[in-house]
Order: sequence, then C-alpha cells, then structure tokens
Amino acid sequence: MYNSKKREADRYIKNNKYKINNQYRLNYHLMGEYGWINDPNGFIQYKDNYHLFYQHNPYEAVWGPMHWGHAVSKDLIKWDHLPIALAPDEDFDRNGCFSGSAIEKDEKLYITYTGHVSTGTNEKEDYRQVQCLAYSEDGIDFTKYKCNPVIDTNQVPNNSSSKDIRDPKTYKVGDSYYTFLGSNDKCENGQVLMYKSNDLINWKFVNVVAKSRGELGENWECPDLFSLQDKDVLIVSPQYFKVSSNDFTNIYSCVYMVGSLDYNLGKFKYDNFSPVDYGFNFYAPQTTMDSKGRRIMIGWMTMWEKEYPTYSKGHNWAGAMTIPREVILKDGKLYFKPVEEIEKYRINEVVLKDIEINKEEKLDINGDSYELEISYDAKEADEFGLKLRVNDYEETVLSYIKKDKQFIFNIDNSGVGQKGQRRTEVDLINNKLKLRIFVDKCSVEVFINDGEKVMTGLIYPSEDAIGIKAFSKGKSNIEILKKWDIK
Ligand code: FRU
Repeated sequence: MYNSKKREADRYIKNNKYKINNQYRLNYHLMGEYGWINDPNGFIQYKDNYHLFYQHNPYEAVWGPMHWGHAVSKDLIKWDHLPIALAPDEDFDRNGCFSGSAIEKDEKLYITYTGHVSTGTNEKEDYRQVQCLAYSEDGIDFTKYKCNPVIDTNQVPNNSSSKDIRDPKTYKVGDSYYTFLGSNDKCENGQVLMYKSNDLINWKFVNVVAKSRGELGENWECPDLFSLQDKDVLIVSPQYFKVSSNDFTNIYSCVYMVGSLDYNLGKFKYDNFSPVDYGFNFYAPQTTMDSKGRRIMIGWMTMWEKEYPTYSKGHNWAGAMTIPREVILKDGKLYFKPVEEIEKYRINEVVLKDIEINKEEKLDINGDSYELEISYDAKEADEFGLKLRVNDYEETVLSYIKKDKQFIFNIDNSGVGQKGQRRTEVDLINNKLKLRIFVDKCSVEVFINDGEKVMTGLIYPSEDAIGIKAFSKGKSNIEILKKWDIK
C-alpha cells in the first residue's frame, strides 16, 4: 500500500501533464509538474544536489491530500522532478503529509514532517497533527519509520494547542538534534515549541522558544531557525496577523526576528520583528546552509485565500517557488540577494545609460521573462518609476514617491487575478534608488537597495503585454539600466 499511493500519484502526473496550459508557466522558477503546490519542504544540499520537496496535491490545482513532491538541482535554478517522496497512506498521516524539513544523518537523508489526520466531519475543526519520520538511502526513495509518530499529541505541553502543531524544522547542534514546531497557546497567540533528541526518534519537549504577545498572529506556521554570524534568526509564518501598518496587509504574513537562542533553556530572545517580504505572494519559506557557506531561502510564491487564475481558467496547475535568495545579516537586519547562479542564465544583454525622464515614455526593451538592474538618481522628481508587462490596457506599476518615502507595487491593471497595491518605506541613499527586478511570466520580484527590502507578487497579464515604460513627475535620471532575458 505504501508505495502504491506514491506510484499512483506519479502515474497520474505522467498521464495528465499534457493537459497543462503553459500561458503563465514560469521559465526560471520551480513549479510542480501538474496540480497544486504550496510550502517548500525539506530544503537541503545532499550528495552533490540541492533537494527541494514541496507540499503537493498531484490530482488537482487546488489544495487537497498533501503529498511531498520532489525536485533536485545542481545550481538552484534548473530543477529536475523526481518521483513523489511521500504520500498520505498510513494511519498517522492519512489525510496529509504536511510540511517539514530534511536532515542528513549517517549518510542517509531523513525527513521530519507532520502527519495530518481527520477526526471528524468538519475539515477545519476536527483533526490531529503528529510529527513523523521518514528516511532514504539514496535521497529519492523514502520509507516511513515503522513506529511513527515520533512526537505524539501526549508530548504537547499544557499551554499549547494539541491540534495545531506542525511543520518541524530539524537540525543538529553538537551531538543533539533539535526540532521546532509551529503552534499556538490556545489563546490566539502563535508560538514555537522546541524538542530535543539524540537519535531523531525519541524527542523530549524543552520549551516554548518564542511566542506572540498579541501582536504577531494567532497561529504560527513553518518555523525556521538558524544562526547567522553571531546571531540567531527565527522566521515564522503567522496566520491572522492584524493589519497594523502598510507592511502587514496580507492576512498571512511572514516575519523574521534577529536575536539569540539559549539551547539549554529553549528560549529565544529578540527585540523586534520585520516582514521577510513586502509584496503580495510570499509565505512559509525554508532555509538551508549550503557547502559554500551560504544561508539560502526559498519561499512559496503564492499565498492562501487568493485568486488562482491558473486554477479557475483550467490551466491545471497552481503555485511556484521564489528565486532562491541568499540571506545576509547587516546591522541587525536581513538582506536578501538572488543566488548568483541566476546570472549564468542571463542572455541578450541591453545596457541603457544616462536617460533623463520627465514624463512617461516607452523604453526600447521588452519581454516577459527577464531581469532588470537599475540605478536611479531621483533628481528633483516627486515620483518616478517603471511600468512592466505593458500593452494598451495593462500595466504593472513600480513607483517611488519621494515626499512619503514610499515604494509602491501596484497590480490594479496587471491583467486578470488579484488586484491592489503594496507599499513600504524606503530611504533614498544620496538621492538614489537601486532596483533589481525579476519578471517571469506571472511573477515579479523586486529587490530594493541591494535587497534591503523585497516585494514579491503574481500578475496575470495578456501575452502581448511585454512593453516596459519609465515615468517621472519632475525630472529624474536612470543612470544605468541593464536588462537580460533569462533562459
Ligand atoms: C503553511 C501550511 C503548513 C502546513 C501546510 C499544509 O502554508 O498551512 O502549516 O503544514 O501548509 O499544506
């Protein structure tokens, strides 16, 4: 039975993937081969390959019975799909193999993940979540540990939900393994629990490492914890975040805290928190450290409770991952930089220099899958920016308003699908603004001022919307603009 559910899913994908409509399929971002994907899972470099697993419903382009899809890459940009790694087929995970992480031990690849089991008729209320283990000799074929779960409901402390407890992030420090689980305190405060083990099988609860004090969402999902330089960083994805400023306008957000973790006490101390991404579509990221010593993060480039035109239009797929981003700590803040491997895929370079902009004008470049690198001198402009994926009636607008110090990403006229704008405060540096923008069919990722802030969003323009315009109210100057198609 165990293998049959996985092979059934593989067969279904193979027999149905010709039904995918490619209109919005991305060129240089990871997607599933068919159906729905959400969170990145088990991100790790193992025996020469980067492995990325993902939450996957292989049967339909909507969330459903969660499997673990699997892809490998040598360079984090081009991915090959492998057979389904986990299917929901045991008593402890029969309604879903939910998110989790991967770790190498004795040359084997281990997965810690959440088994989701329905316990009644109300899908939203009646369920149980337990933590499970699976392992593989070759990193491809996974066997579930025979005595799952390894963390059961009776190991949940009193002050924590025994129902919402999921998404183990597991790593080793010294001789001990630690796992971090997203949960809540039963009083609408998200929290992270820490467990410790010597063997990945027997786990002991240590403490609640961090928790919302009413300001950080009702339930925390997908914790990720790692050290960077001499600090520890905690990333969580809180559900039902109360909108407090421009920075948190999605109902589900993703935040990071820089602080320090006391492994003995199981306490994470931090002063404040910031969004990981300021756009529309970014959630549940995972990080890993690679052999080059880089901390790399990949996020789910979609979001819950949004419109998914690739589903509603019958394109038979939904969901994609962000460009892998290197995480850099500078002056207590995280900066994000697209991994340098993306630069190998640049073709057709165009360089434009010293362009004075005083109104709106069409630039002599276009495309639907490209990278732009731009340095602006704001001069005396009140507002300036770019319009991407432009045709006669569609445009996606990136603008900067000087007096408000606001950078704005507006998708009201981007095409079909979600609408709205996201804005965030950005300081000009010596009256200058630097942007690195990645457009890939239905995605836009904007890295502002060397990755000090990032905005990620999905758009669904018409195929002929390939124009690029610059505009300025008052005079501004594009000191240099470089464009590459990415193939
Ligand atoms: C986050 C999440 C996780 C869960 C998974 C289910 O997006 O809700 O908490 O494990 O998705 O697919």
